Amino acid sequence: MPLAVVASDITTLAADAIVNAANETLLGGGGVDGAIHRAAGPALLAACRALAQVAPGVRCPTGEARITPGFDLPARWVIHTVGPVWHGGDRAEAALLADCHRNALRLAREHGLRRIAFPAISCGVFGYPAPLAAAVAIGTLREELARDPALDIVLCCYSEPMRAVFQRALTPA
Ligand code: APR
Repeated sequence: MPLAVVASDITTLAADAIVNAANETLLGGGGVDGAIHRAAGPALLAACRALAQVAPGVRCPTGEARITPGFDLPARWVIHTVGPVWHGGDRAEAALLADCHRNALRLAREHGLRRIAFPAISCGVFGYPAPLAAAVAIGTLREELARDPALDIVLCCYSEPMRAVFQRALTPA
């Protein structure tokens, strides 16, 4: 199936690339970002640090994406993207979250990568309500899959309740 929802630790997935829900510095953080840096090893931080800053301290503006190797991860690549902070929905959060998914897959295509795992971008520290984020993520991924059916995408939720939210967005009862 080209679009599936699983409950797992994304750092264990042997995908072509896993997507990181990072912040604009790309220098690590908590949540899935911290887990990915721990599992990839210190070379990931060095690779992120080497990426160009587009403004002081900003290596990846919100909605954009950057790619690095996966180093010690089972995944070959990490695609770093920065989701929007939820402010109530009137600060282009949905458009920015869609951009994250679209731009991550653009990088994947440019690198010839097909099997890509996404976390629930913005659904943790950044506070995006999970059902709303799931609808945006799945709607955007479906559009991308329609353009490029060779993609094989996994939405990797960390908990069973989050998996259920994403599964409901994928296959409404
Ligand atoms: N595998 C899969 N999903 C995970 C993992 C993991 N190992 N660890 C956490 N998650 C889940 C969280 O449970 C949440 O559902 O990823 C989702 C996204 O949560 P966050 O990691 O908090 O990401 P986000 O809300 O986008 O906030 C980004 O958090 O850590 C910082 O540097 C990061 O500042 C940035 C902010």
